[in-house]
Amino acid sequence: MSAIRIDGKAFAARLREQVGERALDFTKGSGRKAGLAVVLVGEDPASQVYVRSKGKATVAANMASFEHKLPDTTTQAELEALVDQLNNDPTVDGILVQLPLPDHLDEQAVVDRISPSKDVDGLTPVSTGRLALGLNGLVPCTPLGSLMLLKDQLGDLSGLNAVVIGRSILVGKPMAQLLLDANATVTIAHSRTKDLPDVVRRADIVVAAVGRAEMVKAEWLKPGATVIDVGINRLPPEPGADKGRLVGDVAYEEASEVAGAITPVPGGVGPMTIAVLLRNTLVAAYRNEGLEMTELTL
Ligand code: GUN
Repeated sequence: MSAIRIDGKAFAARLREQVGERALDFTKGSGRKAGLAVVLVGEDPASQVYVRSKGKATVAANMASFEHKLPDTTTQAELEALVDQLNNDPTVDGILVQLPLPDHLDEQAVVDRISPSKDVDGLTPVSTGRLALGLNGLVPCTPLGSLMLLKDQLGDLSGLNAVVIGRSILVGKPMAQLLLDANATVTIAHSRTKDLPDVVRRADIVVAAVGRAEMVKAEWLKPGATVIDVGINRLPPEPGADKGRLVGDVAYEEASEVAGAITPVPGGVGPMTIAVLLRNTLVAAYRNEGLEMTELTL
């Protein structure tokens, strides 16, 4: 049996297109563009690539992009002053501080400083608390994108057994909350979980978000399971190559023989993250202006 390949790239393109159209409506209603500010501290090459692609995608979706690149030597006070300035800037609807920050900076203190109404990453205590309470709020992009792919694939998730592998603030915990809200029966597995393969084998839905290359094997999966692979790991280079292949947390080839549907890496969950970030920015913009936004249909 060969699993359906869940095309996150195509889904994300449709979502970005729909957000782009609604962003034009927002501009008609408000007289300004929705705005996203992205803050990058330091020179991490991967983060630089992400920030650049976020900026391009924002402009392509008819929104304003504000990039703030700060040196490695930035102090906590300077970074918090920038966050305050963005909180008070009426042209900025969403603030994203690219993580991880350099070691000398207190990440949580910076995130806590972001106004919850502009927290398009969904990482502030207010956003996290509202998600736990099942209230309207901004939800972290990668888990929300993963949920969209799951609903697109499966429809109603009620009563399905979902196993989330990983308990990070960015993915695992919010993913579990979203699945719970969708009436799935949710297990959160992590590095101390006993008999992980047995736990995973009970799952109709597996979300792998641990950051370990090809850890989840075909024999761990229930036949027909839907597998969402959030991992992005680079393998060591093959002889003669300068870069290794990108792989997920799931052994894709063999898992495809057992799963019912599975996201590839790259081209699965990854492209959803930026598309949902744009969606969150637009949602924040409508709320910040006190305007009504009709739900996106994707
Ligand atoms: N670094 C990697 N992923 C993310 C994300 O979703 N948000 C932020 N702020 N930083 C990240």
